[in-house]
Amino acid sequence: MSAAGPSGPSASASDPTAAPTATSPPQEGIYDETVQELELDTATPSDSDADSAFDGHSTASTSLASSILNYEYSNGRRYHGYRSGAYVLPNDEDEQDRLDLLHHIFLLILNGKLYDAPIPQTPTRILDIGTGTGIWAIDFADENPGSEILGTDLSPIQPSWVPPNAKFYIDDAESEWVYSPSEAFDFIHVRCLSGSINDWDKLCTQAYTHLQPGGWLEFQEPEAWVVSDDDTIQQAENLRHWQDLCNEAAAKFQKDIRCADSLKQRMTNSGFVDIHEKVVKVPIGPWPKDPKMKEIGRYQREHMAMGIEPYTLGFIGKILGWSEQECRVLIAKVVNDVRNKNLHMYIRFFFVCGRKSGA
Ligand SMILES: C[S@@+](CC[C@H](N)C(=O)[O-])C[C@H]1O[C@@H](n2cnc3c(N)ncnc32)[C@H](O)[C@@H]1O
Repeated sequence: MSAAGPSGPSASASDPTAAPTATSPPQEGIYDETVQELELDTATPSDSDADSAFDGHSTASTSLASSILNYEYSNGRRYHGYRSGAYVLPNDEDEQDRLDLLHHIFLLILNGKLYDAPIPQTPTRILDIGTGTGIWAIDFADENPGSEILGTDLSPIQPSWVPPNAKFYIDDAESEWVYSPSEAFDFIHVRCLSGSINDWDKLCTQAYTHLQPGGWLEFQEPEAWVVSDDDTIQQAENLRHWQDLCNEAAAKFQKDIRCADSLKQRMTNSGFVDIHEKVVKVPIGPWPKDPKMKEIGRYQREHMAMGIEPYTLGFIGKILGWSEQECRVLIAKVVNDVRNKNLHMYIRFFFVCGRKSGA
């Protein structure tokens, strides 16, 4: 993976993943990129994906108090113990597999890059909030041996054997951040924390405070809302009902899962400049004509299918109070909709980065 690079607010419209570059720094302002269109592959039957690329179903610094390892179990899934209940999705092996698959999808979208922001070639200190399995932080550490990467999470699910420049800590991103000014970061990365954060404005403000002048914050956030441009989504009645329920539950839990399109404005409000928002339509299934989007669609369909159970048990079960049996009936129906090859559905992924002024 390259040391990325922003390529400027006037990035090529033909490359939906292009962003500002270090060589031509963006002017201060807010830049949006148009969403790319997904053209339907009419030449190949949409059920011709039998060759699916997906076949079914790793010196840490973490100091572990026993309460952190007091995992909780329900409905056959394992949940975090530290700040119990703050996050409703599991942290078990199946969930870790889902997160690592999602990491692969992000890499495909960004053409192998880990980030979009025009950060310096050798940033000194990096923070990855809600690091999950730590896969992004580990990749970043491997590619940037001169950098020091900190990953924080509620769950100690990061591997023991990691690059020496990657460190993981148990921390609640919603608490006050305790880094001293001498520990300020050059880059803060936040990916897939929808449903995890109550106060996004506070998160943006804390990130701003703990960045060096000139440092970058980047959000990579899928929007938890499936759509289609040709109305085939109308045939996915169970999926539509399911996403209404998940969003209702997230609102009740006060941790929005559809906040991706609000991040640009929140960054603006927190004082960031050179804000760049890119939106990529990520297909569910190999229905697009474009070979790259076709491949991404295969992976995203499997990722969605893996995610229906944890989201249903977490949001609809734990928050709305559905029984496990009720949840499992719904899960089966929704997975059928996800796998319906006649539907041309997609989810919008938001890539939003901005710079702390002053450098
Ligand atoms: C969907 S996962 C994303 C993981 C990782 N960012 C990635 O993209 O692979 C969300 C992660 O956020 C963590 N999390 C949720 N709430 C958190 C909080 N308040 N503070 C820190 N981590 C949190 C969860 O434990 C989980 O590992």
